[in-house]
Formats: sequence, C-alpha cells, structure tokens
Amino acid sequence: ARYKEQWRPQLHYTPARNWMNDPNGMVYHDGEYHLFYQYNPFGIKWGHMSWGHAVSRDLVHWEELPVAIPEAEDIAIFSGSVVVDKNNTSGFGTTTSPPLVALFTGARHSDGNQSQYLAYSLDRGRTWTRYGTAPVLDIGSKESRDPKVFWHAPTSKWIMVFARATDHKVAFYGSTNLKNWTYLSDFGPLGAGTGPGDLWEVPDLIQLPVDGNTANQKWVMLLSINGGTLWGGSGMQYYTGSFNGTTFTPDPLPAVNEPTGTLYADFEGSTYGSWTVTGTAFGSGPARGTLANQQTVTGYRGTGLVNSYLGGDVSTGTLTSPDFVITKPYISFLIGGGDHPGETALNLIVDGKVVRSATGRNEEQLRWSAFDVTALQGKTARLQVKDSHTGQWGHINVDQILQSDNAFTEQDNRVLWADFGRDFYAASTFDNHPTGDKVWIGWMSNWQYANNVPTYPWRSAMSLVRKLSLKSTPEGVRLAQEPVAALGTKRAATVRFSNLPLSQVRQGLINAGVRGKTLDVVLEVDTSGTGSVGLKFHQGGPEETVLQYNPITQKLSLDRIRSGDSSFDAGLSEVHVATLRNTGTLKLRVVLDTSSIEVFAQDGKLVFTDILLSSPGSDGMEIYSSSGDPLVKTFEVHELKSIWN
Ligand code: FRU
Repeated sequence: ARYKEQWRPQLHYTPARNWMNDPNGMVYHDGEYHLFYQYNPFGIKWGHMSWGHAVSRDLVHWEELPVAIPEAEDIAIFSGSVVVDKNNTSGFGTTTSPPLVALFTGARHSDGNQSQYLAYSLDRGRTWTRYGTAPVLDIGSKESRDPKVFWHAPTSKWIMVFARATDHKVAFYGSTNLKNWTYLSDFGPLGAGTGPGDLWEVPDLIQLPVDGNTANQKWVMLLSINGGTLWGGSGMQYYTGSFNGTTFTPDPLPAVNEPTGTLYADFEGSTYGSWTVTGTAFGSGPARGTLANQQTVTGYRGTGLVNSYLGGDVSTGTLTSPDFVITKPYISFLIGGGDHPGETALNLIVDGKVVRSATGRNEEQLRWSAFDVTALQGKTARLQVKDSHTGQWGHINVDQILQSDNAFTEQDNRVLWADFGRDFYAASTFDNHPTGDKVWIGWMSNWQYANNVPTYPWRSAMSLVRKLSLKSTPEGVRLAQEPVAALGTKRAATVRFSNLPLSQVRQGLINAGVRGKTLDVVLEVDTSGTGSVGLKFHQGGPEETVLQYNPITQKLSLDRIRSGDSSFDAGLSEVHVATLRNTGTLKLRVVLDTSSIEVFAQDGKLVFTDILLSSPGSDGMEIYSSSGDPLVKTFEVHELKSIWN
C-alpha cells in the first residue's frame, strides 16, 4: 500500500520520496489548486533545488506530478510564486487562454547571486518555459529571494515583494507586464528576527476584511524568520497595516504590558532585602545562588532582556524572602527563560502553607505572570523561589517580583506570532482562489533540525491548508487560521458529548474506547474558577503529547517532551507556551496526524504547529482537569480517514 510507512502523514501532503521544503507558487487555475515546492529530486537532504509539483481539487487530497521546474545548469530554483495573468499583460498567452507566470529566485551556481527569474506555462502548470536566460530583477545581492507577486487593482499593476534576508527588509517592486520591474519601497526591519545572523524569508502581502466586514479591510504582511524566534530556528510573524500601492505602513505593534506597582524584588538590582539560600552543588562546583554572587546572563531567547539567575550551577536550590505584608491585590513576577531543561517554582507562603504557586519552565521566554492575592491582603507572607535543573547551566529565573495594582498578561513583546509551535515556516497564500478566500499552506519543519528528521523515504510534510481571517480582540486586530472546510470530508467515526461535567466526559471517552493517531478534536470548556484543563494524545507506554490550559497563569502549553523520538535534536523535547487571556471559555480545535499536531485555539487566533514522532502503538487519548470539574460545553472526537486512499 502507498503512503503507509511509519510516520507517513495521512492528512498532510508529502512527496512520495525525497526532500521537500517551502511551498511555492500556490495558485488556483482551471479547476485545480497547484502546490509547487522546494524539492530535491535526487536526495533526502536539501540540495538540487527544483520545483516539485502536486495538484488538488479540494485542498485536502493531493496528487503528485512530475517535477515542474528542475534545477538548471546556471541556477538552482529557489522559492517564488505563480500568478494567473488573466489579461495577458505578459503577452505569453492570450486573454482566452491566460498564461501561468512564475517568479522565483534563481540562486546562481557560479557566484551565489540571488535574483528574480520568470518562467511561464501554457499547459496548466505541467511544463514551464524560462523567459530568456537573464533574471527580470537583479539587485546584485546574494541574499535577495522569495518573490511573491499579486495584482493590485487600485493602481493597476503587479506588486512583487521579496526578502532581503540579511538586511531584515522586504523590498517592493511594481510592474505592468511581469517582466520590467520598478522599485517602490522597502519595509523593515521591525519586530522579531532582526538580530545579527537572523534571516527574513518568504514574505507575502494580502488584504483581508476585519470580522468579515468588506467595508473594513486591512493589509497583512506575512513573514518567515529564521533566528530570533520563540523557540529557536524558524518561525513566522505578521504585521497588520495599510498599503497604498507603493508603501506598506504597519500598525503600531502591541505595547509591552508592564504591571504597575511596587518593586519588591529585582534580582538584577538591590531591592530584595535579605533572602536565605539553601542549595546543593552541581557536580564539584560551589553551591551558588546567593545574592552576593548572582551572575548576569545577557539576551538569550531573543527577549533582549538581561537576566540574573538564581540557582546558578545549583541543581536544586531554594531562596526564601523575608516576611512582608501583602498590600496590593496582585503579586506579579517575571519568570522563565533559559537554555537547559529544568523548572523554577515561585511559591507564596502564608502561615507556613503554600497558598499560591507557579512554575516557569526553562524553555519559556521570560514572561510576566501574576498571583491574585486580593483575598490575602493584610496577611504576612513570604516568597520562595525553588530552582531545580538537570544541566550545569540552568538559567531559569525569577527576575522581578512586584506588589501590583493590576493583573495583566504580557502579550508577546512587540511581535505578532503567526504560530506558537516550532514547525510552521515559509507559508504563503494561494493566488486566484475561486471565492477570493485567502488560504495558505506552510512547511511543517524547522531549519534547526529539518535535515535530520528520521522519516524515510521522504523528508518533511506541508501543514494543512488553512483559511485566514482577521478578528478584533481587546488587544487589537489579530490573524486567525482554521483548516479549510473540506477537511470535514475526512471525518469518520465520531464521539460527541455536550454540557457534561468533565469527569463524565473523561469516563465517557474511556468507555467509548476512543483511540487513534489521526483525529480531529473539538473542545469547548468552561474555565472560570477551575484548575488546568488538558488533552493528552498519542499515548502509549511512556509516550504522550500534552496540550494544557492553565486559566490562572493564562498559559496554553503544548508539551512534546515525551512525544516520541527526539534523539535527533533536543528541540523536539520541549514545551511550547503561549499566553491566552482567560475569557471563561476555552475553545480548541486540534488536528492530529501520524507525525504532527496542529492546535487552533479561540477560533484560530492562537495556533501551534508541531511535529512529533510517536511509536506505532501510541494512539491513546485522554481529557483531564487538575482540580474542580469544569463544564464541558462541547467535545467531539472525529477519526480522520487517510487522504491517500
Ligand atoms: C526558506 C528558504 C528560502 C529559499 C529556499 C531555498 O526556507 O531558505 O528563502 O528560497 O528556502 O530552498
């Protein structure tokens, strides 16, 4: 049987064999959706870049076709886009039989120059003819790539955006015939991925209505960055804004939400009083972690913050504050950030009992969190920082503690992330979608380990095709994503519960014996006044993948530490976390495949895409809550049928 190997995705596109990276040239034409992609026809690692090709009639089922644009003698064929030239502005076809025109980067073998080249197809994308041997646009750079072209009706011209990767800029050019291009403007640097060595790649610019209101449209710049991401390696951010045919003007990025209050402890400064330290030395080193010999570590994890660390080389250590009186409704703290596995807990102790507790994992960025201590005002309390880590350099911190007037959630420091997982990259949208929907597809991997993922005889999968929209939120307008509706055609056996306490849903799921590696799960649960709520997937032996929401810390986390094979890169064994405001209701849609998980939370406003490589028998699932018995409004588990049969 085809496509039955271990870890072969059953709902996601993969080439039958060999290496794949970025999706390229997505376009609808003549009843077919085309997916071209960076492909190595000769091997299972990156190389011999060519455009592979697949077509679909519904954006769910795909058929692989022969390589569309092979590596040429002079250039490798890097990423790019395809448009339907309906008015035959290029002259390569006719208006009744419009040409498909591809603009892509040619990476010149002789000197590494990267320029934008053109090819056209008159036979529904099957064969392509290069337009001359020279590029249509050459800015004399080795780092200028990934042209995305679209028609801008208000100014009657084609717009090309491409990345000036190392300059952290997106370049804008205009044309009336796709062959001659004129400089318009530059955008950037802005947001994440602007540090030395970071790369900007694969930009796209689209227009979307806000909340479906076509009278209120915004432009959205979609951008891949390699470096400067949440978890390392590749990731995607976006910017909302306006575009006048020449220049993209971004909306202000979200402000960093600082708590207001009285600084109680600042472990870089001096406002900490005299804390007591107990600790166990790691290896032969001295037990550090006293405030006197605290150390300073600069700007890792892209936060740009300078962290002191408590614990140092201490493998387990406790720091206890002097007693103090709780005077404000919140105790706010900056916690997390490091580069080796471990955990830091912050405990609030009243009358010798831990009354509030929060943990920060090493894998997290530094983030503000808060204890609600309204009910404890006037009490005498003390704080305890407990550090335990397995590596010699467990840079896990509680950095600052405040008595504060406001509870707040920090919103992702001046960056709008398109995805909070680690495996969504180089996504861009389909041109000429028949209903005008903006749908996109991304590469489900990360340059940090892409070449080592142990699948055979193919390597890398595409994400699901997702429909994009813009939604207003209290924080501003945000991008939302959901799988295209046609995925629903793959739903088979279904188990459904509604308006039941979670404990009964949990038991119902056990009674129904629901298992599976390919599932489509919908959950809506009341999170007011409960502890954490979570789902476990791909369970078997020691393996599980845990998706959990903690309404108190307002964190949605996806834990793939025990998901399965992670031997090829430490990055597989980690937890990805995002802040999700507790609105009293958690809404999740989760699509699981044999080697991936895609999570769409709060109607797609928060997305995680992660690969995971569980063992063949690991197909259990579970729903749980840590305390209380929250009301499950809706819970559906649908088995998904393979797209390959
Ligand atoms: C992004 C990328 C692009 C480039 C292509 C090469 O993943 O580096 O910038 O065009 O891959 O395969």
